[in-house]
Amino acid sequence: MTEMLGTLLLLSLALQARRVCGDDTAAPADEPAPKVAIPAFTPYSVPGAALWEQFAGGLEPAWKRSLATKADKAENRYDGEWAAEDVAELAGVAGDKALVAKSEARHHAISTQLGQPLDPAQGGLVLQYEVKLQNKLSCGGAYVKLLTAPLRGEFSDATPYTVMFGPDKCGEAKMHLIFRHRNPVSGEYTEHHLMQPPVPPTDSMSHLYTLAVFTNNTFSVAIDGTERRTGSLLDDFEPPVNPPKEIDDPDDTKPADWEDDASIPDPDAEKPDDWDEDAPLMVPDEDAVMPKGWLVDEPLMVEDPSAEKPADWDDDEDGDWAAPMVPNPRCESADGCGPWERPQKRNPGYKGKWAPPLIDNPRYKGEWAPRRIDNPVYFEDRELYRLSAVGGVGFELWTMQSGITFDNIYLGDSVATAAQIADDVWKPKHDSELAVHAALNPKPPAKAASAASGVLEQLRARFAEIFTSIHSFYSVLREAGPAAALREEARGAAASAMAAVGLAWLAWNVLLLARLAIGTGAAAPARAHPPAAGDSDADAATASSTARAGAGKTATKRK
Ligand SMILES: *[C@@H]1O[C@H](CO)[C@@H](O)[C@H](O)[C@H]1NC(C)=O
Repeated sequence: MTEMLGTLLLLSLALQARRVCGDDTAAPADEPAPKVAIPAFTPYSVPGAALWEQFAGGLEPAWKRSLATKADKAENRYDGEWAAEDVAELAGVAGDKALVAKSEARHHAISTQLGQPLDPAQGGLVLQYEVKLQNKLSCGGAYVKLLTAPLRGEFSDATPYTVMFGPDKCGEAKMHLIFRHRNPVSGEYTEHHLMQPPVPPTDSMSHLYTLAVFTNNTFSVAIDGTERRTGSLLDDFEPPVNPPKEIDDPDDTKPADWEDDASIPDPDAEKPDDWDEDAPLMVPDEDAVMPKGWLVDEPLMVEDPSAEKPADWDDDEDGDWAAPMVPNPRCESADGCGPWERPQKRNPGYKGKWAPPLIDNPRYKGEWAPRRIDNPVYFEDRELYRLSAVGGVGFELWTMQSGITFDNIYLGDSVATAAQIADDVWKPKHDSELAVHAALNPKPPAKAASAASGVLEQLRARFAEIFTSIHSFYSVLREAGPAAALREEARGAAASAMAAVGLAWLAWNVLLLARLAIGTGAAAPARAHPPAAGDSDADAATASSTARAGAGKTATKRK
């Protein structure tokens, strides 16, 4: 009875909740999307940079697409197309050209040569560029390579680079920061990867990636102008640059007489005189007695008394006839027949083979390990920032999605310049994108609705609690009787108290809901501020630029 009442109450509450909150995911489908005024592109100049690229003048002649084949797989050509063109999705600046990887499921490679190589030994290195994933990204790279000077031949995966930096995503998104370092003794290059790199955003806004390598061997990685990872070139890369001073001697072998058994059989121990190695494990049980019903003289098998010699049996040809043997019928009711044998039991005097006890090995030398020798390729580089000079910048990527877009590439040695670019170029563009995105994706009056549904959620949870409690009290009453139920007194009392509190709650909330229902019936307040960066992730892919929205297209697709 109580349960039914409770269920009904909850049901009606749930229905009420639907009506009050409305279906807040339904969008007004055919309203024309609002226009947002976006700034027009104006060229920005950065004096003194090793590279400053806005792609306003197109690709040629500075940027050269590679038509090489990949070194690691000769059948893979760089057949992805590149273009310098206006951003199509969620543009924040009108007429702003950017470098776009155009082809799906293709290898793309493009590079440019610096007018003059940048030598990080002079004053460190600062690299900053924007990435915009116009079609989002399920699998592909958006990182940049700083190519080691001097540049030789067609750009490919085999082209030596000094630094590789930027986002990459195939499954999980991650940032790459890799630098290649030459071992001054062996002359070999090794790639050193940043450990615990930050996680890049993957929405379709323009995001700004900044790397600084300082002359004190530290580095800093920032996303959208916020520092996300700092550390030391010496300590935060895998494998570490400086090799170990000593290594195991590869020519050292374990001597034949090396004792690495910690314990040995005691050589002085002797077998005790009373140790009988031959004592059997099992012996006849001398205490056992033959059961009374045992028929010692009865054989187990007897001739079948009912058998008869066949009439056509010929003694001359077939030999003497003998009756077939059958189990002795007299043994069936007896404890047993024939000679009685004592059962076996475990021999209390059994000791088995004697073995000397183990003692500590006096000649034990421990685990053998090879001798340590000086590492022949050891060096200690305390000036890791002196990376190989950079002669060019290239993008060499595989991508499943088209529309990976790069813009506003700065390469130089000034953190201040990079920060100024961020403020003057990226920030206004990003703010504009957020405004466009917000206009194309009007949010429902989220505050009022979520407040109402929040209250309802709490109410529902509270009632579920109360009825579970009451239900368990009545279960005990029904199954074990009133005495047991009274033993559950505390619980029962709590349940009743909660029920009372709950009813008061209900009354109060119904009043509150009535007020809210009147409130949400009124016009929804327009969204006044752009969504937080995190908000944009889910929705940005479906948002279109103002150009599209302005053409009267329906821009509010919903997932
Ligand atoms: C290294 O240099 C940079 C830039 O001058 C500075 O911001 C940073 O604090 C320095 N770090 C250390 C550990 O000295």
